[in-house]
Amino acid sequence: MITKETIEKVLDAARIEEVVGDFVDLKKRGTSLIGNCPFHNEKTPSFHVSVAKGIYKCFGCGAGGDSLKFVMELEKYTYPEAIRYLADKYHIGIEEVQRSPAQLAAQDKRESLYVLSSWAGKYFKEQLWTTENGQAIGLSYFKERGYREDIIKKFDLGYSPDQWTALSDAAVQHGFHKDFLKEIGLSIERDDGSIYDRFRGRVIFPIHNLTGRIIGFGGRTLKTEKSVPKYVNSPESDIYHKSDVLYGLNFAKKAIMDKDTCYLVEGYADVLSMHQAGVENVVSSSGTSLTTGQIRLISRFTKNVVILYDGDAAGIKASLRGTDMLLEEGLNVKVLLFPDGNDPDSYVQKYGSTIFKDYIASHQEDFIFYKTNILLKDTGGDPIKRAEVIREVVHSISLIPDEIKVSVFLQQCSHLLDIEERVLLTELNKMRLQKGKAQDKKDAAVSAKVNYSDMPPTDEPPADFFLTEHERSESGLQSTTGSSPITPEILQEREVVRILLNYGAEPAVWEGDGDIPVAPLLLSALDDITFEDRPSAFIVDVFRKKAEDFEIPEPKFFFSHDDKEVQDLAITCVSTPYELSPNWNDDKRKIYVSQEREHLKELTIQAVYRIKKRKVEKEMVKIREELKAHPSESDLEILLAKYQKLKEAEKLLGTFLGNIVVK
Ligand code: CTP
Ligand code: MN
Repeated sequence: MITKETIEKVLDAARIEEVVGDFVDLKKRGTSLIGNCPFHNEKTPSFHVSVAKGIYKCFGCGAGGDSLKFVMELEKYTYPEAIRYLADKYHIGIEEVQRSPAQLAAQDKRESLYVLSSWAGKYFKEQLWTTENGQAIGLSYFKERGYREDIIKKFDLGYSPDQWTALSDAAVQHGFHKDFLKEIGLSIERDDGSIYDRFRGRVIFPIHNLTGRIIGFGGRTLKTEKSVPKYVNSPESDIYHKSDVLYGLNFAKKAIMDKDTCYLVEGYADVLSMHQAGVENVVSSSGTSLTTGQIRLISRFTKNVVILYDGDAAGIKASLRGTDMLLEEGLNVKVLLFPDGNDPDSYVQKYGSTIFKDYIASHQEDFIFYKTNILLKDTGGDPIKRAEVIREVVHSISLIPDEIKVSVFLQQCSHLLDIEERVLLTELNKMRLQKGKAQDKKDAAVSAKVNYSDMPPTDEPPADFFLTEHERSESGLQSTTGSSPITPEILQEREVVRILLNYGAEPAVWEGDGDIPVAPLLLSALDDITFEDRPSAFIVDVFRKKAEDFEIPEPKFFFSHDDKEVQDLAITCVSTPYELSPNWNDDKRKIYVSQEREHLKELTIQAVYRIKKRKVEKEMVKIREELKAHPSESDLEILLAKYQKLKEAEKLLGTFLGNIVVK
């Protein structure tokens, strides 16, 4: 268990813009930072980060939360995993009650798999650097291939001894359970139930996730026999989903954002060599064709991809594969081939980094033109083949979402293909029409499921902002759980919560010299009110408890609360679209926010008044019902007295609230 103190330290240190900035390319817009949402696929940014409030909110998909929630959602981390990650990022030592590996295993399977992977990574590393065989076989291999020590260390490279059970034995002895070793594929089970090592006599390339934790391994053989597979890789597991991982991305993400380009290569060796040459914005698909998940990973950081492949026939084919998906995701795709069967690794090692950098700077070709030229070469003047090429090329162009780019490509390809642009355009429209029909059906199915209840980005403050409870109820809002409809009562209560969270600590200027903050005034006015909306009741309760110590809780206290409804309500209350909307220029925004500040008194009083009025009215209705039910004489007297009191209360309320008449 991580101590409470550590958690607090971590949450205090975490800066939302830094935590999110590691994963999303953020640009300043108005008072917030915006970028493309990492939680859903989008081409125009609707993901907002408020530095002042320490939260993010996406107006496209509704995702929202603080730093902790961000890493939890993005990396599918559990709470302790996320705390560990943030602690690591901010160099905060974790204090915890010690547990043995076995206890850990029982506690949390995924965490144990991470712990085991990280332990295995260390094991392989130690083998490489400190054992005789590791140095003589593994390290010397890397050095012969030209890798510097700093690169070997940076990528956590290792060596697995050429024995059947070296790692399995060490792991079991260390307290790790056989099942976990099997689960992440470090060990393989024989029919008799015994286990042996998957990676034997191989150099090891650990595979890291975006946050730098080891989730799998690739092992390269040192033998040259054809019968031995060159690479052996970890299987899919709970912590390693191959289609969502790109080798090297954790080391590359900063450089990708800085250079606004991502180089895509085939192998581990290419990534290493390019880093060594000082080109760090590079990732590898590890020999497989790209998945949509991997493409979306890249497009979080940049829209520009350069594919670097061998110049041989296989390399060329590979460069054509998977590219349609890149285009569809709106990425700008370029291709770069190396001469004489070289891959990026062999080219760097042969010619050195200066020539390599010059080469990659001057040999990039736009994918569409590249494809056109490659295909044209094969036609040999055959008109049927030519027609096929034209369709192929137009098909690729038709996938590009940006209309301006589409027309530029059509124009240029009409020259390359020596055919009128008009003909290409007709072909393109035909294709789109067919695709559109297929898409319509899909869209209809999707839109039936989408919940539009989350706040849309609006140009104007939402109309329901200052509405009466009746008008609000007409707007048909849904509660945060999305299931039960929001009643006027719930809205009133949430309005109180909204005021508490946004303005609770501000001086209530209408109270004399303004020393009293809004929160205690509001709370004391609502002293006798029981909140019925569960998340509202919870938040108000925390405010009440803190008020006893003359404290006002900060909104961020609720942002990472265990209770999802509480969390959602707090974040929704604090992230208002008129403050975050990119469509609002600064002046408009300032005017709006200051408007609400200037009306703090009315806002507070109305909130109190409505809730009280509702309460009193409800009571009065109840008493009238009881009066109708022919009560006994003594009861009648009590009821009448109560009714009288309520009427007085209603009147008093009006006076107390400064005779403000609220319709
Ligand atoms: N690969 C694999 N299994 C194989 C061959 C290749 O998983 N049997 C993957 C590896 O991720 C490898 C990538 O495909 O890095 C590219 O393959 P290749 O070009 O053959 O490997 P290199 O990285 O160039 O390795 P080396 O230079 O060491 O031969
Ligand atoms: Mn190679």
